[in-house]
Amino acid sequence: MVVLKLPEEVSRLRISNRIVAEILAELRERVKPGETTRELNRLSEELSRKNRVIPAFKGYRGYPFALCTSVNGEVVHGMPSDRPLLTGDILSLDFGVIYKGYYGDAAITVPVGNVSAAATRLMRVTEQGLYNGIEQALAGNRLGDISAAVQGCVEAAGFSVVRDFVGHGIGKSMHEDPQIPNYGVPGRGIELRPGMVLAIEPMVNQGGYRVRVLSDGWTVVTEDGSLSAHFEHSVAITENGPEILSRIQ
Ligand code: MF3
Ligand code: CO
Repeated sequence: MVVLKLPEEVSRLRISNRIVAEILAELRERVKPGETTRELNRLSEELSRKNRVIPAFKGYRGYPFALCTSVNGEVVHGMPSDRPLLTGDILSLDFGVIYKGYYGDAAITVPVGNVSAAATRLMRVTEQGLYNGIEQALAGNRLGDISAAVQGCVEAAGFSVVRDFVGHGIGKSMHEDPQIPNYGVPGRGIELRPGMVLAIEPMVNQGGYRVRVLSDGWTVVTEDGSLSAHFEHSVAITENGPEILSRIQ
C-alpha cells in the first residue's frame, strides 16, 4: 500500500532530507587519500547529534553503523573500516536520519583524489540516470516511467543496473511501498500521485549487473569485480513536478 503524505508530513520530510544532504556535503569534503571510512562514520554521528536527528541506519536490521561506505567494487551497504582510502578509489556514501519520526535518505559517489576517466564516467552516468528518473516523477506518470528512464540512460552508456536492490517509498518508515526498480517498462506499474515521496537510487555497475553479499552479511559487491556507483535522492511528487528533498546545495 502506497501512503500519500499530507503537506505537514512533506514539511518534515523536507527537513530530514535537507539535514541528510547537508551532512553528505560535509562528509564529501572530508573524502581524501589517507582518510578512513571509520572516521567518516564517526563524523556522520557527530553531525547527527549537532542537528538533533537520529541516524536512521544504525541498528536497522542489526546494521552496526550510521553510514554505509562502499568502495570500488562494493555496490551498497559497505561497512566503515580502518582501511585508509587510496587515490583512485571511488566511494559511495549512503546516509539517512530520522527527524520527528520522518526519514531522510540519500547517497552520493565521490572520487578519492584523481580517479580514472572510466570511473568518472561511471559516476556521471549514474547521477545522470538518477536525474533522468527524477524527471519522470510526475503526477499521472507511472512507476515504470521512472525505472525505464534510469535504465535507458545507464545502458546507453554501456553500463548495467543492479536488479537485486531497488529504491523505495519513504516516510514514517525508511522503506515503504512502492519498490522502485532501476529497470522497467514505460507506462507500467502504479500511477504516480501528488503526496508520494520516493527514494530513487540507481546502483550501476561498470560490468555485469550481478552482485553477491559478502560473508559479513551486509557488503554487496559486483560479481565480476567491476566498479559500481550509487546515487540516491528522496523526491516528493507535487502538482508542480518533482521536488528533490535531499538536494545538496
Ligand atoms: N539507502 C539504503 C536503503 O535505502 C540504506 C539502508 S542501509 C541499512 O536501503 F543499513 F540501513 F540497511
Ligand atoms: Co534508500
